[in-house]
Amino acid sequence: MTPSDRTIGSATGPLRGAVVVPGDKSLSHRAVLFAALAEGRSHITGVLDSADVRSTLSAVAALGAGIAVRDSGSGGLDVYVDGWGDRGPTSPTAPIDCGNSGTTARLLMGVLAGWDVEATLVGDESLSKRPMARVTDPLSHMGARFESRGGGMLPVTVRGGGLRPMAFVSDIASAQVKSAVLLAGLRACGRTVVSEPMTSRDHTERLLPAFGVEVGTDEAACSAWVDGPCVPIACDVDVPGDPSSAAFLVAAGLLVPRSTVVVRYVCLNPTRTGAFEVLRRMGAKVSMSTEQVMAGEPVGTVTAEHGGALRATVVSAEEVPSLVDEVPILAVVATAARGTTRFEGVSELRVKESDRLAAVAAGLRSLGADARSGPDWLEVDGPARLTGGRLDSLGDHRLAMSWAVAALVALAPVAIARFDAVDVSYPDFMRDVSSLMRP
Ligand code: S3P
Repeated sequence: MTPSDRTIGSATGPLRGAVVVPGDKSLSHRAVLFAALAEGRSHITGVLDSADVRSTLSAVAALGAGIAVRDSGSGGLDVYVDGWGDRGPTSPTAPIDCGNSGTTARLLMGVLAGWDVEATLVGDESLSKRPMARVTDPLSHMGARFESRGGGMLPVTVRGGGLRPMAFVSDIASAQVKSAVLLAGLRACGRTVVSEPMTSRDHTERLLPAFGVEVGTDEAACSAWVDGPCVPIACDVDVPGDPSSAAFLVAAGLLVPRSTVVVRYVCLNPTRTGAFEVLRRMGAKVSMSTEQVMAGEPVGTVTAEHGGALRATVVSAEEVPSLVDEVPILAVVATAARGTTRFEGVSELRVKESDRLAAVAAGLRSLGADARSGPDWLEVDGPARLTGGRLDSLGDHRLAMSWAVAALVALAPVAIARFDAVDVSYPDFMRDVSSLMRP
């Protein structure tokens, strides 16, 4: 056992109560980046305090944005950003470390593509294995130059400037790709359009208008566009809670007998709530109620209650973008559902923070369930009684939390190696689980 390992035993009683999960990761990255691009001072509240978002904050500071960070006392960060506006970023004096964060690396490439600067982006072992050509290819087509030693992977050196607009047809539904191209489009003269096979999370389209940037969308064509050149204007943003973090508490509430878990102030953007819809289809008692709009996003409460008779389902490729980060935890819930749950069109999970299809199938098998994966599918049989054992997060935050939820209903404790990966998106995850635990 190293200090970063953690052993989690089964729940000692039902989970009951209400939790406010930390700020949404995707929105926190975007609010900080857009504020750095903007003219003037932005004030962003509820920013997720996690390793990934810290990577974005350090990156924009290294590029010349003024950053002042305060702990708000309620978990999130209060961030003031003095943007570089039409002066543009400055070339950093050292490589920019994106850590584990794909969103930092890919969105930054789009930001830097439009300016006459040179910057080298590096990342940790996992990020250095993830594909970057999906972003550098369209941005190169627009006129940016990229050099990579690792076959399209980090480290990547960006030399920006002199962009042409483009109509980019992406063959994957990826909000990181879409956002990178749209951000570059702010610096090109004319209309830059991105179309995707299915609509990925649309936070960029919803948040840019708060910074004074008009964004066009065509829902039927799954496309979005911006007209450049255009300089965002500073504004204030309040970031709502992360539905992907909420999904772990919801799953725990569904699995642990006699539980009722309420999660408040959650972003309920329909491009993010696919997991809750799938759980309802499986017979789970999950409800969502929208109560307000924050940062252009519907926000409200999710309630999960144990006791629904869970049945297997097929998650189609069309649904995947709306639950792409929730497949591991849905797979854990599927071990409690009668029948074989199948996830289709999930090849993107092979290039996340780990190969999540292989890791989830192997991890569930080592806990005594039956699960298998193919190139772009995952199947889980249920119901299965989970045993204890030893698992590894592989440094992947969503695996660490999925195994922790499995441990709450396993027959014996589960030892999770590299549990500190939770710091990437939800550092206080176990504190929040414990706060719900009733004797
Ligand atoms: C994200 C988009 C998704 C998601 C990631 C965050 C974003 O990745 O998996 O956790 O903030 O844009 P892809 O865009 O690669 O699907």
